[in-house]
Amino acid sequence: MTDLRHLRKDFPVLERTVNGKPLAFLDSAASTQKPVQVLEAMDDLYRNHYANVHRGSYQLSIESTAAYESARVRVADFIKAPDPNELVFTKGTTAAINHVAYGWGLDNLSAGDRILLTKVEHHANIVPWQIIARHTGAELVYLDIDEDFQVDISSLDDILDERVKVVGVTAMSNVTGTIGPVRELADAAHQIGAIVVVDGAQAVPHSPVNVSEMGADFLAFGAHKMLGPTGIGALWGRMELLEQMEPAEGGGEMITDVRLHESTWAPVPQKFEAGTPPIAEAVGFGAAVEYLQKVGMDAVRTHEIDLTRYALQRLAEIPDLTVYGPADPDNRGGAISFTLADIHAHDLATILDQEGVAVRAGHHCAKPLMRHLEIPATARASFYVYSIREEVDQLVDGLHHAREVFGVA
Ligand code: ALA
Repeated sequence: MTDLRHLRKDFPVLERTVNGKPLAFLDSAASTQKPVQVLEAMDDLYRNHYANVHRGSYQLSIESTAAYESARVRVADFIKAPDPNELVFTKGTTAAINHVAYGWGLDNLSAGDRILLTKVEHHANIVPWQIIARHTGAELVYLDIDEDFQVDISSLDDILDERVKVVGVTAMSNVTGTIGPVRELADAAHQIGAIVVVDGAQAVPHSPVNVSEMGADFLAFGAHKMLGPTGIGALWGRMELLEQMEPAEGGGEMITDVRLHESTWAPVPQKFEAGTPPIAEAVGFGAAVEYLQKVGMDAVRTHEIDLTRYALQRLAEIPDLTVYGPADPDNRGGAISFTLADIHAHDLATILDQEGVAVRAGHHCAKPLMRHLEIPATARASFYVYSIREEVDQLVDGLHHAREVFGVA
């Protein structure tokens, strides 16, 4: 068992009470809390070094640019990118996938082509492809999930033919915790010349990631789910593809020359970073990554498995509770979606909030998955490095209380 509770002192908000109870923050899959190290890094930039990047030849701009670019190097190193210039800063996971959908998809897809996704994807890896499919005439097809909520690749040989040009897969589901079969899909996709776009919104924060071993062509992730600020994320892509790909956004900073009727693009990654970038957010992202590297991503993953195992055991004690996700804690992420009898997820979340427990209720930006499971919504508990067993106990007590309040027999 990996006990990371000593980290809690770095997260001021965890000392709060909510409705007179100690806060049990179990919504880290939606967004994580921030350690003082991240807050201080951003504060220091604004107080002591701030200016716009890449423009000035004066000292503050040089310092700001150095801070921004060293964050790029750090985040690239975190996912073992072979070249830091393959790391494009974006607004977040969603924006990163949109960059690929618009930048690569508009130019490379046409009627008759297929985009292969899985039914466990969240909206960020579905909706951009639907828009591009509308523009290009390409068609969306989906891999099913099996009874253990794993992506079913038994029909891959039938579905993955030369019509498929893009395979999009989450490396870890924000709803079920399913770990996507990225390597298997990448190997198969590459044999037919398709590109592989991985939604890493959950996997990058929660497990060690090495883009070369993953075998993907693009990986999208965001800072705010890994201790960093909102408003920034990253798109990693293979340099060869990034060089070929058109920018999805035009404007300042991303050009080499602009004439009245045409422009030429700056080299990668600036080509994809139009306008003034989120400078302090990049610095905060870098500080978040530094924090996680000190903890160690193996420890982060081990801690999550321990806590997920404990939570699944304790939730199994509650009558009428259904968990939607793989049974084996070693083979899944830590987002645990559940329903309790016929209590609506939002009612459940409200009762839990009265007990100080923060969980997300709803469709979790994965409506096709909810439809597939034939449920309108779930409540979801999710963890991060600062989460502890006592919070799981508080959740379990709250769920027993909800049974009483709603008179579940
Ligand atoms: N941020 C969304 C979630 O809660 C996708 O999982």
